[in-house]
Amino acid sequence: MSSDPMGVRRREFLTQAASASALVLVSPAFLPAALPQSRRIRVGLIGCGSVSRMYLPHLTKSPHVEVVSLCDRKSERAASRGDEFQIAARYDSIEQMLGGEPFDLLVNLTDMQEHGKLNRTALLADRHVWSEKPLANTYREGKSLLELAKQRGKRIWGAPAVVNSPQFAEMARLLRDGRLGRVAAAHAHYGHTGPSWSAFFYEEFGGSLPDLGVYNLATLTGLLGPAKSVVAMTSIITPTRTVDDKGKIEVQAEDNAMVLLEHQNGVLSHVQCGFNYFDPYGHEGDGQDRPTISIWGSRGTMHMIGYDWAPFAVELATVEQPAPVRLATDTADYVWEEGASVIAKHMLAESEPLISAHHALHVLEIMEAARDSQTSGQRVTLESTFSWPIIRP
Ligand SMILES: NC(=O)c1ccc[n+]([C@@H]2O[C@H](COP(=O)([O-])OP(=O)(O)OC[C@H]3O[C@@H](n4cnc5c(N)ncnc54)[C@H](O)[C@@H]3O)[C@@H](O)[C@H]2O)c1
Repeated sequence: MSSDPMGVRRREFLTQAASASALVLVSPAFLPAALPQSRRIRVGLIGCGSVSRMYLPHLTKSPHVEVVSLCDRKSERAASRGDEFQIAARYDSIEQMLGGEPFDLLVNLTDMQEHGKLNRTALLADRHVWSEKPLANTYREGKSLLELAKQRGKRIWGAPAVVNSPQFAEMARLLRDGRLGRVAAAHAHYGHTGPSWSAFFYEEFGGSLPDLGVYNLATLTGLLGPAKSVVAMTSIITPTRTVDDKGKIEVQAEDNAMVLLEHQNGVLSHVQCGFNYFDPYGHEGDGQDRPTISIWGSRGTMHMIGYDWAPFAVELATVEQPAPVRLATDTADYVWEEGASVIAKHMLAESEPLISAHHALHVLEIMEAARDSQTSGQRVTLESTFSWPIIRP
């Protein structure tokens, strides 16, 4: 989402169920230091731009979080969000923030190009990190962040939070139970006409893949398992744009992408994303009733209805029940901006969330591989993987 999207739902039953099963799987070395149950996770939030308008109302209502400081290099932004949400400590730089009001978890909502550097600085200062996507600008940088976190006994997690939705869980259960027969293929798409406020979306290491395709890649790998290889084409459809912070700019990053993924057992999937998609339902998808994720198997087909960051149903048709039925129509309390508050909840409970750093790193490697495939014209083999399936019985 690259403007304020709808978001009114959040779900706890699944994260609780998953954390119970995941506890068995987690190495104690990765667990955060024990935190008293009565306290809240103290959050320092950096980047008080557009997305903070969604994060701050959510975080300041969370029973697991206390937002203690704000930071933005545009100091008036931290000041105005601070006034709005009664957060007294405001800083212009991460160094000042780390030396100021103590906090446990950095919530990083800055420009995509700043994430790797700021996440590293926070880990080196012994803070846990929740990062908006992407976790870092390159796969290599992302891997080094995970290694650093391990060395420091800290944790890092990255958006998106798509694996937390009840619709993701429903689709994962249907796959697990074999309702689609032999799974063969999947498709996902997400696009709009592009953000208008900040140039970074169009500069090097920006682009529609890390801003939009990232959701679909997390969903498809989350449902079908880690990808083994990638073939992609990317292009620039709109070579110049006018944005609020820099006026007229040359677009450097792709604004149009088609990515093919090879998963295990011959399953193939496809993601398309771009900043040149007219959406008759608007960016927030109000009133839309169409799938954005589809999966086909030998005995069934299913679709996720709505965007994968805010889905509201799953549609299933099978050999036994060919007329499509709507499932998982309850969105519970899942909202796409819940990532950091869910992480805080799990830090307090010393349990594992569904969202994992290794999954975010895998998605980062796919996005880099897509760019490499466009440059070289070749298929790119991936090395990363993550613990899968995400939803366990
Ligand atoms: N806007 C949305 O709806 C949305 C939705 C989901 C995810 N995101 C993601 O959130 C992140 C931020 O997007 P945005 O739309 O809020 O951008 P934005 O330009 O509106 O805000 C970014 C803010 O970060 C600040 N900043 C940048 N570097 C900094 C640094 N080194 N130190 C301190 N402050 C710094 C900028 O001054 C700016 O205020 C991106 O990763 C984006 O992909 C945005």
